[in-house]
Amino acid sequence: MSAEISVITIDGPSGSGKGTVATLLARQLGWNFLDSGALYRILALAAEKHGVALDDEVRLASLAASLDVRFGAEGEGATVILLEGENVSESIRNETVGAGASRVAALPQVRSALLQRQKDFRMSPGLVADGRDMGTVVFPDARLKVFLTASAEERARRRFLQLKGKGDDVNLASLIDEIRARDERDTQRTVAPLKPADDAVLLDSTALTIEQVLERILSEAARRDLA
Ligand code: DC
Repeated sequence: MSAEISVITIDGPSGSGKGTVATLLARQLGWNFLDSGALYRILALAAEKHGVALDDEVRLASLAASLDVRFGAEGEGATVILLEGENVSESIRNETVGAGASRVAALPQVRSALLQRQKDFRMSPGLVADGRDMGTVVFPDARLKVFLTASAEERARRRFLQLKGKGDDVNLASLIDEIRARDERDTQRTVAPLKPADDAVLLDSTALTIEQVLERILSEAARRDLA
């Protein structure tokens, strides 16, 4: 029974470091990894490719249900994401796709079309699931639920350094505004809003390094006999 396979969920807003931490945690435990945000990003990209409007809920839900997407390992723990056979690992990470993902993620029919696809990642020996509603909706029976946050300013600063490093021309103040607007949309939506599960462990990463966050999660996992 898949319900016997342990799940650790890591939810929180973008820039909290959850993607990096969840990847490292999965690698350390030797477990499977679900990047649920990537599914919403892939859907936004597929919509653009197929000329589906980002508010056409019915067509988006049917696109989500039939999405030809594959996640494959590519050495050193890196994952390659294929949409209809095309490598989209890089292109789903841009700001436009991120904004589109946030819009499609607000649609109830889209979320339910992607639900089973996310549950299917629960495979032996265990799963680390990264997202916004992993602990509240998709895996409510997870053995450990972490809600990772950081201040909007710190998250914007991290994103700023990341984009600068790629040579992009970015403005810190507008990044802070964008992050606040995204938070507002993600926390205020009626379906599966971004909020900690009642039984989640809350962690604020504003003043912590990735290693420190990982260490705390591993000690919570050990207390539950998961690590
Ligand atoms: O984590 P991310 O930035 O890749 O997520 C992209 C968008 O998808 C984000 O705006 C919120 C949404 N999302 C969601 O609604 N539920 C999830 N489980 C994961 C992401």
